[in-house]
Amino acid sequence: MTRSRLCAAVAALTCTASALLAGPVDINVGKPGAPIQPTMYGIFFEDINFAADGGLYAELVKNRSFEFPQDALQGWKAFGRVEVRDDGPFDRNPHYVRLYEPGHRHKWTGLDNEGFFGIGLKEGETYRFSVWARVPQGGRAVLRVEFINTASMGEQQFFTQERVTVDSRDWKQYEVVMKAAKTDPKATLRIFLESRDVTVDLEHVSLFPTDTWKGHRNGMRKDLAQALADLHPGIFRFPGGCIVEGADLDTRYNWKNTVGPVENRPLNENRWEYTFPHRFFPDYFQSYGLGFFEFFQLSEEIGAEPLPILSCGLACQFQNDSPDAHVPVAELQPYIQDALDLIEFANGGTDTKWGALRAEMGHPAPFNLKFIGIGNEQWGPEYPEHLEPFVKAIRAAHPEIRIVGSSGPNSEGDQFDYLWPEMRRLGADLVDEHFYRPYEWFLSQGARYDNYDRKGPKVFAGEYACHARGRKLNHFYASLLEAAFMTGLERNADIVHMATYAPLFAHVEGWQWRPDLIWYDNLRSFRTASWHVQQLYSEFKGQNVLKTTMDGASVSGAEGQDGIFASSVMDGGKVYVKVVNTAAEPRTVRLNFTGLKKGQAVEPVERIRFTSDKLYEDNSIELPDQYKPVRGTFTGRPVTAAERAQAAGQKPTRAQLRSLDRSVDVNLAPYCFDIYVFEL
Ligand code: AHR
Repeated sequence: MTRSRLCAAVAALTCTASALLAGPVDINVGKPGAPIQPTMYGIFFEDINFAADGGLYAELVKNRSFEFPQDALQGWKAFGRVEVRDDGPFDRNPHYVRLYEPGHRHKWTGLDNEGFFGIGLKEGETYRFSVWARVPQGGRAVLRVEFINTASMGEQQFFTQERVTVDSRDWKQYEVVMKAAKTDPKATLRIFLESRDVTVDLEHVSLFPTDTWKGHRNGMRKDLAQALADLHPGIFRFPGGCIVEGADLDTRYNWKNTVGPVENRPLNENRWEYTFPHRFFPDYFQSYGLGFFEFFQLSEEIGAEPLPILSCGLACQFQNDSPDAHVPVAELQPYIQDALDLIEFANGGTDTKWGALRAEMGHPAPFNLKFIGIGNEQWGPEYPEHLEPFVKAIRAAHPEIRIVGSSGPNSEGDQFDYLWPEMRRLGADLVDEHFYRPYEWFLSQGARYDNYDRKGPKVFAGEYACHARGRKLNHFYASLLEAAFMTGLERNADIVHMATYAPLFAHVEGWQWRPDLIWYDNLRSFRTASWHVQQLYSEFKGQNVLKTTMDGASVSGAEGQDGIFASSVMDGGKVYVKVVNTAAEPRTVRLNFTGLKKGQAVEPVERIRFTSDKLYEDNSIELPDQYKPVRGTFTGRPVTAAERAQAAGQKPTRAQLRSLDRSVDVNLAPYCFDIYVFEL
């Protein structure tokens, strides 16, 4: 290359907008480090914020089995002569409604269902209405099933209407597919008894879009499941969260109640109904329509390892001071059996009791469960005491299963310091850490895992999110700090094996907790800035960590590093360098590739940039895409030290002539998360 062309090439790479940082970021591509686990980035699901019923689970009817405890008709408006009865065909959901002839030729009998914040319907889409029904005294009952707009000024309230004829004295399931004639985010479902002189019984009234994720009948809302699949998660933790524990043990999440026919899965109270008196949802229950079979199936379909978390016999410790709220250690056997049976449900042969149920539900092949968590955010000596017998029993029966323990609700402090050694003593394979922490914490924790004990359990950063003080809503700056912090997860991939942001989902009208990763109303959804950060880490996960340092130290926003965080990974012949500028000023960073072999080039392929000057906003239902990464080509060529000296009109030193290192200067915008893709 002639000197002038070389000068031009170097100039094209060198920033003029800002001063170069003191030390280059050295990336050693000659010695790939620890493998990055396939489970590294994943998702945490909990039924909080109407994440299941009213969210991911595509059922549109609320209280479909008439089991809500305070009022069997909660969510329904009955007219004419309707009676709630309790000797129905499903023993664990015994209630149903009896519709009588109204007793006057100008009166009518029927029911309206309000759905979850209304029923969202899209013009031209089809919906499967189904109902278990019988005519107890014989005859034929014609039901008019309607999608209505109760606020309509039109001649008629309904915009879609079909008929279902019930003609058997025995309970049978009837169904009809209905095509919505218009879009309505808040429609009502009306069931109108058209026939006279007939009595009809109705149970498990259901309405699903036919176009669910993967077309399953008891399926998931497609846009929301797609938002999970697009994260390319490696691990899928479910069903929570505090919901695992229950405000009392009777209302803990009991997986055995969530499998088998949906009609007979008993309703459970949702603790998020009443946890925050300032955001109270008296109609928040768990239908368990999204149960453990569906969780396993979804894990498989989105390519994630399932990670169920089970109760360890301790009810939520935030909500219970008395030891009597918990199961005494000596009486834990049924809980331990639940864990062993779950492993059988997931992995057992079809000749086993629980494996046979899995097969009956449509999945004869095992789900290949590898991990199980025991206890959520437990603390105190009672937690190790309760965990120990589980560990012994699971190890004895299933040495192949890896066990996740917990370090409690705090990211540091006495309980944390007590529990980590306890988890080591008990031989937990992973320890679940939770941190919902403010800006300063995220900015100061870039090197958190650098000095962790390499010989003990691995880390599962199982619930985390940046929670700004006084700004507890999703916003770009919080996601930027999550990106900065995550360079430390990546750098320590030898010990950090899993990380899941939390919570995952929130209905805009039904939330109790924020920020969250994905928001939605009845028809639309949007992915937050934090979602994009998670997605980028997952997409550019790579296979091995590359040592990435500034003046020999981790690039973790430490003093003297001007708010820069960086990490890099190797992926076959590609290198992904992640750099986060948390400062308000633009920065120029020299990326210096060391460990190259003779003749080995470093070719820039792509730059993915995520930035915004609106720090305290995020995407929204109306503007779902205002924050998203921009992908662009990355021109320029990393040059050797000798070439750089020549371009500057200097005579290269012998050391420069000998060096195989190549470096490229990258310009970081203020507040930005960049990924640079190079090919070796
Ligand atoms: O993610 C919300 C809650 O935060 C979880 O249920 C609990 O584990 C944590 O305290």
